[in-house]
Amino acid sequence: MFFLLQLFINNEFVDSVSGKTFPTLNPANERKIADVAEADKADVDRAVSAARAAFEIGSEWRKLDASARGRLINKLASLIERDIEYIANLETLDNGKPYEDSVFDIGCAIDTFRYYAGWCDKIHGNTIPADGQLFSLTRKEPVGVVGQIIPWNYPILMLAWKWGPALATGCTLVLKPAEQTPLTALYVAALSKEAGFPAGVINVLTGYGPTAGAAIASHPDINKVAFTGSTEVGRLVLAAGAKSNLKRVSLELGGKSALVICSDADVDEAVEIAHGAVFNNHGQNCCAGSRTFVQEDLYDEFVKKAVAKATARKVGDPFTDGIQQGPQVDDELFNKVLSLIKSGKEEGAKLECGGDRWGKEGYFIQPTVFSNVSDNMRIAREEIFGPVQSIIKFKTLDEAIRRANDSTYGLAAGIVTKDVNMALIFAQSVHAGSVWVNCYDAVVPQAPFGGYKQSGFGRELGEDSLKEYLEVKTVTIKMPYKI
Ligand code: NAI
Ligand code: MG
Repeated sequence: MFFLLQLFINNEFVDSVSGKTFPTLNPANERKIADVAEADKADVDRAVSAARAAFEIGSEWRKLDASARGRLINKLASLIERDIEYIANLETLDNGKPYEDSVFDIGCAIDTFRYYAGWCDKIHGNTIPADGQLFSLTRKEPVGVVGQIIPWNYPILMLAWKWGPALATGCTLVLKPAEQTPLTALYVAALSKEAGFPAGVINVLTGYGPTAGAAIASHPDINKVAFTGSTEVGRLVLAAGAKSNLKRVSLELGGKSALVICSDADVDEAVEIAHGAVFNNHGQNCCAGSRTFVQEDLYDEFVKKAVAKATARKVGDPFTDGIQQGPQVDDELFNKVLSLIKSGKEEGAKLECGGDRWGKEGYFIQPTVFSNVSDNMRIAREEIFGPVQSIIKFKTLDEAIRRANDSTYGLAAGIVTKDVNMALIFAQSVHAGSVWVNCYDAVVPQAPFGGYKQSGFGRELGEDSLKEYLEVKTVTIKMPYKI
């Protein structure tokens, strides 16, 4: 297999109309990996035309049996599996996450494709007992050409979450990967051609947000946009959709999720869950459990053990065996995380460990733990997207729920307890799209994922995600007489 560092339009790798390119860097050493074609509005127009032609009634894609669509998606999953080592290398080089984490993400992407492959010939409408001589039925039809804008924290996984339901429903798509991590999307684009997807069904445009991304969000011939990224850009995407053609929009945005540790929990298990909740993927996780609420009886022991765990975390070259944390993705995030750490120190939180950069090159940050964090501090309110744990004390469950809900976000939440009543009260009271009990970040292809409040709307994964890509058409037939 080979792939080119160009735009993937209509099953071909092509230069951008402007001929421009941009560099993608290795965040572990800040050096350039390669120059990649830079898409702008003219390229979005080309890709959307290709996607539109592939979507027309009578096209090869529209005429394909639903079951054959499923086989194509399964084929793509198998090709990704065949090349998993190569793709994992690309992902780690471009993103900085440990190699084993890349392998894990790619496994989840394969699972997601296989899950949606199974849906293709099971998407159907209803027959409806309409009044009088009328007979109604519904058809579930693909929404059309979809634009998909994804972030850099889980590049191939976000691609799978977007492509899986779009392809299962029979849409055609134009995807823009994040400018920090364009490589694996181009590789998987090449695999989609090898799998046999007709030209124009899948298009990948590498480029920047305010240019290529904005052109997708405001394109008059795109029927739906699915976006994952910051709340700030989510607002722009929604506004652009409203202004251009009232396209459908689904948004998966940031979070400031609370993980509540009750005093009946096994402390070692709770420390482990809370550590993974915040430090996995270097904290670059939209549902990171970045507010660790610990009940007062357990607080001091928990802090001591959480600090020991964070201090033992292995930071370094993401290609080295046993490394758990590589660099943050770019200098912008690196500086944002360091400035939030500084604010924590200045606002009076107690720095227990870390608190600075790690090493001399690359965007590495020391695993950092703050105790004595109060709700009004910036580290307790803002999404950090870095390896920073804020441990907060609480007395009663009611109080923890109220404080957990005191956020503009509502993506995820978790509780660690042996008491099923506490777990259920929490699960029902917390404003969050995902709630985990005695685990965290347990995201599976079969169950929906998405946000409340300013964490966005719409759901990805599970059956719910299909709805985001479907129109419901009602066909009503007049019968000659009532039988
Ligand atoms: P971002 O929201 O700017 O980028 C996400 C995607 O949107 C990228 O593909 C980008 O090119 C695109 N984009 C940027 N501006 C756009 C525009 N005007 N129109 C259309 N598309 C546009 O996120 P960024 O700058 O990478 O990270 C900033 C912060 O956002 C992070 O520190 C983190 O707090 C949060 N974030 C949340 C993510 C999540 O999974 N919910 C993922 C990435 C970032
Ligand atoms: Mg940005």
